[in-house]
Amino acid sequence: MIRRGKEKIQLRYSAPKGIHDILPPDISIWQKTEATAKELFQKYGYQEIRTPIIEHTDIFIRSIGENTDIVEKEMYTFSDRAGRSITLRPEGTASVVRAFIEHNLQNFTSPQKFYYTGPMFRYERPQKGRFRQFYQIGVEAFGERHPTMDAEIITMLCSFMKAIGLEGINFELNSIGCEKCRPDYKNALLLFFKDKLDNFCPDCQRRYSLNPLRILDCKVERCIALRHGSPLIPEHLCDDCSNHFEELKERLRILQMPYTLNPELVRGLDYYTKTTFEATSNHLGSQKAVAAGGRYDKLVEEFGGPATPAIGFAIGMERLITLLMEKTNLLSPVPDCFIATIGKEAELKGLLLAEQLREKGYHVEIHYGGASLKSQLRRADRMDSRFVLIIGDDELRSGKIKWKNLKNKEQGEIEIEDISSILKNNLERY
Ligand code: HAM
Repeated sequence: MIRRGKEKIQLRYSAPKGIHDILPPDISIWQKTEATAKELFQKYGYQEIRTPIIEHTDIFIRSIGENTDIVEKEMYTFSDRAGRSITLRPEGTASVVRAFIEHNLQNFTSPQKFYYTGPMFRYERPQKGRFRQFYQIGVEAFGERHPTMDAEIITMLCSFMKAIGLEGINFELNSIGCEKCRPDYKNALLLFFKDKLDNFCPDCQRRYSLNPLRILDCKVERCIALRHGSPLIPEHLCDDCSNHFEELKERLRILQMPYTLNPELVRGLDYYTKTTFEATSNHLGSQKAVAAGGRYDKLVEEFGGPATPAIGFAIGMERLITLLMEKTNLLSPVPDCFIATIGKEAELKGLLLAEQLREKGYHVEIHYGGASLKSQLRRADRMDSRFVLIIGDDELRSGKIKWKNLKNKEQGEIEIEDISSILKNNLERY
């Protein structure tokens, strides 16, 4: 609240639309999930990479594709003070590819495997599971074109879902071909859409001549209906792509990795070749993809790097956390011990004692001054502290401190040097 003359003005700030805070106790589930991902991905040889949140705009236009929704409508783009066009990253793959080439990472042993976590930015219409700032955990592997790599990465995603306790995730799989077979497929699409074109939305009419594949991921209802019965890409794969897909499926069967084939899975980014996949859940409403990815064998070359096949995926953290929340009862951390003090000398003693106990590994809360013993004990109770130490004048004189176990109500007095042993005993019994 501020005052201007006699007028009171209420100021109330909130985060921008579609952008949210992550608060305790929810943050604990984020931290655990990220830790599980890092531990698991390292077992498959992935190392962390940290790329900037901003990049030159061109990087996203060239990789994601000029006629995609992300590039056409969703990027946060601005000019920096020198007039360069800069964009807040809408996804992580383009930045990792740029870093891979910039630092000549192809010179190291192949395959090179990276994981990353962090915020991404897309100016989308916010709704359940769709935000303007959202977090991804992603992985990218460079330098291996064999389908065994595809099988490994998809299985790793599945193992991650299992490791965090998520069940009922469906793995959808497709192949969208390569530069050899895609022209044939595009022609088949052009032929199919030709007579219906006037009924499509203006965006799809434009996409028809620019990139008809993009019509396949338009979300407008009448376009979805008009697409019904359109040619499917697996029927148009060249021998190389078809063999790759068959070999991948064989490996997934051997790994007992359940999946469903989805011949309509084209993904909303232009850089994919061959394998595409999505992990979906029926508990997420319309934004059902909790993770998605695929191969992008041409992107490194298109960015000016050496011909390097690559594959990766990204997990949408908010959607993942929504699913985890359904089955987790989140609790705030509970202090092991609360130190209540009466008077300045005791307060200083308590301050020092708290530091000593924290060094021994305990979670200790203290009294910050001013309140009566009764209200300090009420605070300890509200925090659900397991144990209380009380220091006052008597305790300072005698060198003994009062303790109370707030769970079983046992209490007593103890020499200061024996505190950590009584704390240990009481916490172990609790
Ligand atoms: P994507 O499908 O655009 O792929 O995003 C991956 C995941 O991020 C989605 O499945 C979803 O869970 C989450 N996500 C996307 N947009 C939003 C949003 N607005 N709000 C909340 N969550 C969202 C990529 O980003 C590719 N870079 C994945 C990849 C890596 N492909 C190869 N390597």
